[in-house]
Amino acid sequence: MMIKQEVSLKAFNTFGIDVAARYFSAFASVVELKALLAEANLKEPILVLGGGSNLLCTKNFDGLVLKNEIKGIELVGQDEDHVFIKAGAGENWHRFVQYCLDNNYAGAENLSLIPGNVGASPMQNIGAYGVEIKDIFQELEAVDIKSGEERIFSLEECRFGYRESVFKNIYKGQYIITSVTYRLYKKPRLNTSYGAIKQELERMGVRELSIQAVSQAVINIRTSKLPDWKELGNAGSFFKNPQVSLKKYEALKASFPMIVSYPQGEGMKLAAGWLIEQCGWKGYREGDAGCYSKQALVLVNYGKATGQQIFELSEKIIASVLDKFEVNLEREVNVI
Ligand code: EPU
Repeated sequence: MMIKQEVSLKAFNTFGIDVAARYFSAFASVVELKALLAEANLKEPILVLGGGSNLLCTKNFDGLVLKNEIKGIELVGQDEDHVFIKAGAGENWHRFVQYCLDNNYAGAENLSLIPGNVGASPMQNIGAYGVEIKDIFQELEAVDIKSGEERIFSLEECRFGYRESVFKNIYKGQYIITSVTYRLYKKPRLNTSYGAIKQELERMGVRELSIQAVSQAVINIRTSKLPDWKELGNAGSFFKNPQVSLKKYEALKASFPMIVSYPQGEGMKLAAGWLIEQCGWKGYREGDAGCYSKQALVLVNYGKATGQQIFELSEKIIASVLDKFEVNLEREVNVI
């Protein structure tokens, strides 16, 4: 396998940040990945890249970047109600959703148009419009970076939470996900609980609900609110929606009656976009780093921003939300 040196990562991260990787290579199969790991021999820190859609690069990467290009989508099993579809981790996420729509397999439609690749979906339990990957996850295959051994992770073993899994905490940097098997429904179980979907379906004048209609509604909402990274660099939501106790929420509600929130377990989840907007950041621009004008949770690169500049803007936003609401925002993106 060819390992290149000093490769720009600009084309490999959706923020479009121009940093370099000391070493860079791609793999298209588990066999190639294992060969690369053996060649690298743990000498360098390793960063695995999927679609680069949840990544903020603040400096050159002094190690080996491995681009996952394992492709393929196949039906691997079924029972009375489900089909099991295995997808290569390097497959584009929306291509997988499109495959499900084309074959009338239900469950992924609310997750239409999320940027990134299949391999990243369990990493942070991607979610949108009332559905998370955990709802359609069956199992995944991964390679242990140290031993080169293959391992299967079940739903329980991934310990999915809100934008969380074992791959983001206890096993961080230890495994490379090579494929994911999803469990989809033969008969649709539509989830239109999210207010914006209902409104959009009405606006579209949809009479008969279908997974294709829900997907189109999601696509319409996303394209109206979220910037296309090909036109304006971004990594989707930059922060997580913070969770607070009921007590804290009630105190906030008393001071800020318009606060946007949703019940979450024992407490409440706050709309971080609302908190950020209230601090006056929505549409703010400093050089080429900015806070998106239609959705304050998204930070954008107008062209030549450095990762450091975007990071600094995020620090200011965190500080001002803390100051005004005494709520600590956590970043959702992976900062390297
Ligand atoms: N809001 C504002 N101002 C803003 C943005 C939002 O007031 O600038 C308020 C509005 O009241 C709005 C509410 O916040 O109704 C919720 O906004 P939105 O529906 O856009 O969702 P979100 O909570 O900001 C989350 C996910 C998104 C996902 C949407 C839809 C996180 C961190 N983000 O955003 O995921 O698409 O819900 O389910 O949970 C991502 O993770 O990259 C991502 C885009």
